[in-house]
Amino acid sequence: MNEAFRRVFGTYPDGVWAAPGRVNLIGEHTDYNDGFALPFAIPQTTLLAARRREDGRLRLHSAQVGGPVVDLAVADLVPGAFTTWAAYPAGVVWALGEAGHRIGGADLHFDSTVPTGAGLSSSAALECAVALAYDDLYGLDLGAPALALLAQRAENVFAGVPCGVMDQMASACCTTGAALYLDCRGTVHEQVPFAPEAQGLRLLAIDTRVKHDLGDGAYAALRAGCEQASAVLGVTALRDLSPGDLPRAARALPSHLLPLVRHVVTENARVAEAVSHLRADRIAALGPILTAGHASLRDDYRVSCAETDLAVDTAVGAGALGARITGGGFGGTVIALVDEDRAEAVGAAVTAGFRAAGYRAPQLFPISPAAGARRIE
Ligand code: GLA
Repeated sequence: MNEAFRRVFGTYPDGVWAAPGRVNLIGEHTDYNDGFALPFAIPQTTLLAARRREDGRLRLHSAQVGGPVVDLAVADLVPGAFTTWAAYPAGVVWALGEAGHRIGGADLHFDSTVPTGAGLSSSAALECAVALAYDDLYGLDLGAPALALLAQRAENVFAGVPCGVMDQMASACCTTGAALYLDCRGTVHEQVPFAPEAQGLRLLAIDTRVKHDLGDGAYAALRAGCEQASAVLGVTALRDLSPGDLPRAARALPSHLLPLVRHVVTENARVAEAVSHLRADRIAALGPILTAGHASLRDDYRVSCAETDLAVDTAVGAGALGARITGGGFGGTVIALVDEDRAEAVGAAVTAGFRAAGYRAPQLFPISPAAGARRIE
């Protein structure tokens, strides 16, 4: 990274930071309903070489995007001004300034192994890398949850994506060998040890390469539907409902809102169940919970698609203990929990199933809980 930075900016960086993408084990579309989620960081990471500048310029370069350096004035940053990838890093700098922190410019060079549009939080990785680098470069000492909230604000207001806080919390706060039990009414979180390999299990990621785009309106419409349902039911957020409230919800809600509520309520219960299994070291017991979560996203929340359904059905049919789409949906990545001696067969079955259906070949890779955002040099 040091040499790459020098080639772009003609000098060496002050340091190098890393922030990972994430997989969510269970707890989907619950974060913006003040609910619960259970993500973990993946080895795929965004690296950021950065150098502080004293002239108020923010200069951005990405190894993946290439092209000329994007050169901006920190003082001129305004929400909505960018529609390119630069909105994410620039948004974090804007959010830090808006929150009253005394920050200035920087040269930032990114190099990332987090696939984009795959539901693995490439944008949160970018944002958290910038937040952490600025935290160090400007001596802010904000702490990971505060950085995650600023990164979320950048995405919500500056980039215009109305996401919850899960992805940024995962990238900022996760630790190796653990899943992050997250209460999204605030940023309360707990590291729950999660080491599938120790129990002869593997988690397989299946990137269907169907690109999703959270900015396209569908995500915002779902979020608005949840808020509307909360208002009708007289609760602050859907998190305040339990499965026992569903009959009342069925009577009170228009038919298009009830499935959204049913998903969120049952999904929060699935997170609680998953966490109790993890605490008792019963990782295999997660399998049916994952598959039930997928059915709920497919039938009630309706954010699955033919490719992700095929990946789940084929993986389970080939012996996976459970499988589900992960992330916002509308394509992206499926995760499957498999016995290590079935891993190859499950992967081969999914690849063959995609070929038979005439879909693009999926990208398969093993994942295990990796480190959250950190300084590496
Ligand atoms: C995206 C959003 C998150 C969360 C998930 C769905 O990843 O960025 O905030 O809402 O979708 O669980």
